[in-house]
Amino acid sequence: MPEPLTPALDRLRPLLLDTEGLVRAVASGHRRSEHPDPARAELRPVELRSGRQLQVTATDGRIPVTRNYAPQEAGAAVDALLGQPFGNWHVETRDQVVQLRVTKRGEAQVHTSQQSVEAVDAGHDKAKNHLIDPADPLFRVLGADGAKRRQVDAFLRQLAPIARKVKPEGRPLRVVDLGCGNAYLTMAAHRYLSAEIDPDVQTLGVDIRPEMAERNARVAAEAGLEGLRFKAASIEEAAVDPEFTGVDIVLALHACDTATDDSLALAVRWRAKGVLAAPCCHNDVQRQLQAADGIPFAGLTRHAILRERFADVLTDSIRADLLRLLGYRVEVVEFIDSKHTPRNALIRAVHTGTAPTARRVAEYTEMVASWQVKPALADRLAPEVEAVLA
Ligand SMILES: C[S@@+](CC[C@H](N)C(=O)[O-])C[C@H]1O[C@@H](n2cnc3c(N)ncnc32)[C@H](O)[C@@H]1O
Repeated sequence: MPEPLTPALDRLRPLLLDTEGLVRAVASGHRRSEHPDPARAELRPVELRSGRQLQVTATDGRIPVTRNYAPQEAGAAVDALLGQPFGNWHVETRDQVVQLRVTKRGEAQVHTSQQSVEAVDAGHDKAKNHLIDPADPLFRVLGADGAKRRQVDAFLRQLAPIARKVKPEGRPLRVVDLGCGNAYLTMAAHRYLSAEIDPDVQTLGVDIRPEMAERNARVAAEAGLEGLRFKAASIEEAAVDPEFTGVDIVLALHACDTATDDSLALAVRWRAKGVLAAPCCHNDVQRQLQAADGIPFAGLTRHAILRERFADVLTDSIRADLLRLLGYRVEVVEFIDSKHTPRNALIRAVHTGTAPTARRVAEYTEMVASWQVKPALADRLAPEVEAVLA
């Protein structure tokens, strides 16, 4: 339940000043239309020759500045930080984790969870490597284990630079996740974006299964996520739904087979500036390769397992090329270590509007002609692709 902000912040003060009990604290994000100075601050106790002091590392987003405060100075330093319009305070002590988030209405949403000293010692050194703190209540609500947390981190590291690049001026960032499933990546993205990029970010998770929308909305409310909604709809329905206007980032993570193509086509039609797609199975191109006659290097596609692997590579190469032809700067990168999943490629694209060179056009036409494939994405975007190839 939201509560008045000032008394909630006052309760953090003794925790931050208790250098025996404090493990670390992070102040980050910003409140609606306000900008804290510094942009982020991390507090931790340090053992110096002169005794325990409170260390504050403040950053303006680029260069961190670290300063140690003796007990008699620490109160003023903490008061100054509590007075700044941060959107989030994460305070970890040896026996509890307090997460304070400022809502759009300027109230405090506080989650407190107990933790053991052993857990603190085990997690402490690793915590700074995570984009969402492992102690965040979101993970508890999602029941996410270590592997899922690592996947979340890997995904957020890919999303963060794109979100920074495409964040619009004067209106909230809008993100749509097509085929969101149980939405743990959608929720993690929303948590991260609202804390670090735009407190007003609006995220919409779409899945064809109605039970997912209901379940995801309940879980998101439990995790205290505002500005995140879920819709039971197919990607095809989303294509004609006026609700989906002004979408800045499209996510399509492990959407089955040509659902990835449907999602990429929508991203192009919506003129989304950022796209992150982690493709899943590639049955469509596999079938076409099997049926093709007289394609080059037939040995590449003769055996089912090799055909499957080659179809993965060919499909994603074609998708990347098509997005390039349509004015996106595209990278295909490893999403998560291949020991966790073989479906580990991520197509990252940012719209730049750059027209393709003749060489790029020729590369694409030669590739689809040689392998005798009709790519689903080219089919979905036929008018746009024909205009570029003409
Ligand atoms: C493999 S799951 C991936 C879920 C999630 N994105 C993730 O990465 O964990 C694929 C999801 O896409 C949904 N889906 C498949 N085809 C769809 C379509 N045409 N429209 C909307 N959702 C679809 C399925 O219901 C399923 O939840």
